[in-house]
Amino acid sequence: MSTWQNPLRDPRDKRLPRIAGPCGLVIFGVTGDLSRKKLMPAIYDLANRGLLPPGFALTGFARREWENQDFAQVVYEAVKAHARTPFRQEVWDRLAEGIRFVQGTFDDDEAFDRLAETVRQLDEERGTGGNHAFYLSIPPAAFPVVCKQLARSGLAHQDGESWRRVVIEKPFGHDLESARELNQIVNEVFPEESVFRIDHYLGKETVQNILALRFANQLYEPIWNANYVDHVQITMAEDIGLGGRAGYYDGIGAARDVIQNHLLQLMAFTTIEDPVSFSPQSLRTERIKVLAATKPAQPFSETTARGQYTGGWQGGKKVPGLLEEEGFPPDSKTETFAAITLEVNTRRWAGVPFYLRTGKRLGRRVTEIAVMFKRAPHLPFDQTSTEELGQNAVVIRIQPDEGITIRFGSKVPGTTMEVRDVTMDFSYGRAFTESSPEAYERLILDVLLGEPSLFPVADEIERSWEILDPILEFWSQQGRPDPYAPGEWGPPSADKMLARTGRTWRHP
Ligand code: BG6
Repeated sequence: MSTWQNPLRDPRDKRLPRIAGPCGLVIFGVTGDLSRKKLMPAIYDLANRGLLPPGFALTGFARREWENQDFAQVVYEAVKAHARTPFRQEVWDRLAEGIRFVQGTFDDDEAFDRLAETVRQLDEERGTGGNHAFYLSIPPAAFPVVCKQLARSGLAHQDGESWRRVVIEKPFGHDLESARELNQIVNEVFPEESVFRIDHYLGKETVQNILALRFANQLYEPIWNANYVDHVQITMAEDIGLGGRAGYYDGIGAARDVIQNHLLQLMAFTTIEDPVSFSPQSLRTERIKVLAATKPAQPFSETTARGQYTGGWQGGKKVPGLLEEEGFPPDSKTETFAAITLEVNTRRWAGVPFYLRTGKRLGRRVTEIAVMFKRAPHLPFDQTSTEELGQNAVVIRIQPDEGITIRFGSKVPGTTMEVRDVTMDFSYGRAFTESSPEAYERLILDVLLGEPSLFPVADEIERSWEILDPILEFWSQQGRPDPYAPGEWGPPSADKMLARTGRTWRHP
């Protein structure tokens, strides 16, 4: 590796993008959706932005009888269809030179030996310097065998000069116990600092901006606590159904798929205390602290709701219910909507309910965090003047239409005193000319740079399961989830869950 340092560049300056050093990436599960729609395009986008090293190598491993050029063609098509940045032939040609394919199954020792040989050759031919990341875009049931193979074939071995890292995708287990087992299996082969667990929500610009909003400003901190906040609603809604995803989703359901990871991380970012610094260690310490202080509110029959979409009409199209989707058994109890209530038992948040909800086939695709404030303790107006006044709110719009909205009361022009809700808006699209990188671009680059801030550690995963497990256990003893029609915002039980305390869900 070159030791030359640019004298005009201060390594502490975080404004200039860091470029990955010599390295390669091996992807297991290259024929999957994630790989085609997200990983391969993100790699091209990184190359196009000049963030990959010149000799970068991408190796695919799969069962198909492919040659290097067949795999390169698959990557090419994925890039053409899904890349964020414009296609440039010269960037592609350079990337394509480093594309390799190794054919085999996970239990095939010889295939892994060939992979080890391919990686060694890449070090020679492309100068990847012995630095390799292994991306397991495969079902978790296959993690143990692949980890063992990586150990057996010497691929996991790092010699101090070079690095080996493993990237794993959720689900990280299906409850606390299985998560612990999984962590153990992975940690037997890769030390924790070489394990990068992907929660792609942490790669989103808008999620990282929660930290900027809270810790770079003076305005919000004084009111960001139980003295002023009434409750918080975190919503991740999708309008798509689960056609084609039965293999992964049946028996998993909305809470495990989205709440255990994405929504609990959004909650953690919203509630953490200020980290001592932005070092990965400090950020994680705060995330773990707040997750350890979080408990689900009881009784679950009143504080949670579960639903399953039925068939019907959505956006002018007839859509099947979950039970008619291909691959789901007609008596599937898998929930496609989940809502839970959490309490964060810290001095800052005690008494503030956190409502988390997610679902498929809801009104529209939207993810937001709404911090809802208490009403002013005294209103020196006639009651009729403030009839239209709601609660003040700060709404962090994660996607789409990324930005932040602040809602407050304002006088309606005229001779009478009438106060009504108005909003003030910050929108990324209007404030900045640059489009945001995809979450996977940021996260893949961070893996190659060895920058772990945005990756949950084993401890966080286990704390998250501790929060969710009692609810899953309770649901498993109930009957079927409540039905809801496509385009609705979940079943009536979700509304009841809030109505109990006189609250309502926002219509995002
Ligand atoms: C994934 C879930 O983690 O996130 C999917 O497994 C979901 O069910 C997806 O559709 C949503 O991601 P995004 O970035 O589109 O909000």
